[in-house]
Amino acid sequence: QAEDGYRLWLRYEPVSGAVRSENRRTAAALVVASPSPLARSAHDELRRGIGQMLGRAPADRATVDRDGAILLAALGSPMLARTSIDAARLGAEGYAIRSVRLNGHAATLIAARDGRGLLYGSFALLRRMQMRQPLGKLDIVDAPRLPLRMLDHWDNLDRSVERGYAGQSLWDWQRLPLWRDPRIDDYARANASVGINAAVLNNVNGNADILTAPWLAKVATIAGQLRPWGMRVFLSARFSAPREIGGLPTADPLDPRVRAWWKAKADEIYAAVPDFGGFLVKANSEGQPGPQDYHRTHADGANMLAEALAPHGGTVIWRAFVYAPDNGDRAKQAFAEFQPLDGRFARNVIVQVKNGPIDFQPREPFSPLFGAMPRSRVALEVQVTKEYLGFATHLAYLGTMWEEVLRSRTDRPVAGARVADTLAAMAGVANAGTDRNWSGSQFDQANWYAFGRLAWNPDGSARSIAEEWVRMTWGNDPRLVDAIVPMMMGSRQAVVDYMTPLGLAHLMGTSHHYGPAPWVADLARPDWNPVYYHRAGRDGIGFDRTATGSNAVAQYAPEVARRLADRAAVGDDALLWFHHVPWTWRLDTGRTLWAELVHRYDRGVATVVRMRATWDGLRGRVDPHRHAEAAAFLAIQEQEARWWRDACLAYFQSVSGQPLPAGTRPPA
Ligand code: GCU
Repeated sequence: QAEDGYRLWLRYEPVSGAVRSENRRTAAALVVASPSPLARSAHDELRRGIGQMLGRAPADRATVDRDGAILLAALGSPMLARTSIDAARLGAEGYAIRSVRLNGHAATLIAARDGRGLLYGSFALLRRMQMRQPLGKLDIVDAPRLPLRMLDHWDNLDRSVERGYAGQSLWDWQRLPLWRDPRIDDYARANASVGINAAVLNNVNGNADILTAPWLAKVATIAGQLRPWGMRVFLSARFSAPREIGGLPTADPLDPRVRAWWKAKADEIYAAVPDFGGFLVKANSEGQPGPQDYHRTHADGANMLAEALAPHGGTVIWRAFVYAPDNGDRAKQAFAEFQPLDGRFARNVIVQVKNGPIDFQPREPFSPLFGAMPRSRVALEVQVTKEYLGFATHLAYLGTMWEEVLRSRTDRPVAGARVADTLAAMAGVANAGTDRNWSGSQFDQANWYAFGRLAWNPDGSARSIAEEWVRMTWGNDPRLVDAIVPMMMGSRQAVVDYMTPLGLAHLMGTSHHYGPAPWVADLARPDWNPVYYHRAGRDGIGFDRTATGSNAVAQYAPEVARRLADRAAVGDDALLWFHHVPWTWRLDTGRTLWAELVHRYDRGVATVVRMRATWDGLRGRVDPHRHAEAAAFLAIQEQEARWWRDACLAYFQSVSGQPLPAGTRPPA
């Protein structure tokens, strides 16, 4: 089990030498001063982790009566009487870890408002131990910035997973509700270890059956397994459910029968799952039903569901992923439909916006909706599963991508604001499935990890998160850390380079979204055709989104819009997203656009070649099974990076009539 990646970053490898003796002195006993189901999880995890790392689990004690106890205490516990903990800084889910003296003994105190913080604090302590950091003089306070940190599973009821590349769905519907799969406990542990506190169990392309009694019983079992790890369950709700499973002739959100049906449905769900989180809804998008079918607005639809959930404290998460075939520029539609509704959503509605204006491409500029709806709660949705970045075989660490979007300056609602400042929640489309390694590849585990860490702290650094993950997943040997972290840090840029450099997007094969197909021009919907996005011709390449084109730039704050509209100021990474540029135009690099495009495609391939060499150099330093798997996938990635480069350059050359620059090898 250890060698196939099943244990994720919770490997708890044995500690040796002086560090072990030192750790044993600080982790000799465990005192749970404030018992609760979550504190029990924390206790069990500490015993498991410390036992594995130090070869000796801490002894359970009722009180601190010797040196080296770890004390879990919630605010109000008499054991905290002599300690000053700033409750305001802890918030609902934060924790303090402090080296203290209690009853004359040295102890490590984990304090929190309740079991949630105790759990997160315990994982934080275990993380330090896994990273071989000293435990002797701790004084840490940490709390999540966002209250909702959620994985969205696109899992169907037949256990297939939309855009999933890691086996089947984790939810074993056929054996539920009586079967409690231990794997779900491990799934919940992994999430708790990074602070993820919610999961949407089913696909946004919904099936209303999940809302019927037999399925809700199954959902209740899963919710029961996630609860002790601080996670709440949400469900995707199909807007037409009142017709499909309710026997009503309509799903019009203003129809009293429809409203009554959803209220009763909410009551039924809460009877089965008392801490149910709420609904996620994809409405009037890609053929899904929604309020617009009845000439109502997104706000009408969302508020109707919000009203049904409100008495139970539930939340509606309403997605802003919408686009129609004939609007001239797909990138503009979400903003056009949603921004005018700002202020019209009920308090328990969160509008969930994808990071970019189109669809999880290897690189997109941030969506102009961030910061533009100051009277609404807005969530950032990212894709942890790599639909457009080479599925599970290509190595692409997405921490850098999310850091890029979180740090992007929106300058709204106030000057200087960044995307991270505008958020109420973060959601990640999950990449977990039944594969032994959970995520389809060893390295894709890092994306799950990074998503959780950034949702906890949107100002976190992608590099430090990568380092944490490497230390826990591959080992603390500096030769490993120094080799793997840089490889991860450059990996997403490599994918951008060999797939869609310089702000290009949506060049992938139709429907499966794997491999290059920039030439496709004959799909029924114009906005599904790659040619719609790159607009390459004899004159140049790129989508003019300035005032002379679709004017999508006008959806950004004025100062941001001015920069994006300026071909010289927009920056190479977003150049062809916002501009149609002649092939002979010269970039700051000194190269013409055409030469730069060739250069970037080549650079992407070269980076993958280097990644392979780096990884080969680590043979013998990590276990052979995981090494071989990652090596095999890197070989696939190199082959497919060449495929992308050669196919795209051959196509763009045929359109542009430009020669390959001197010194460039023709595709081999
Ligand atoms: C993409 C993806 C679909 C998914 C959709 C969504 O278009 O290819 O499979 O349903 O995003 O986010 O709703």
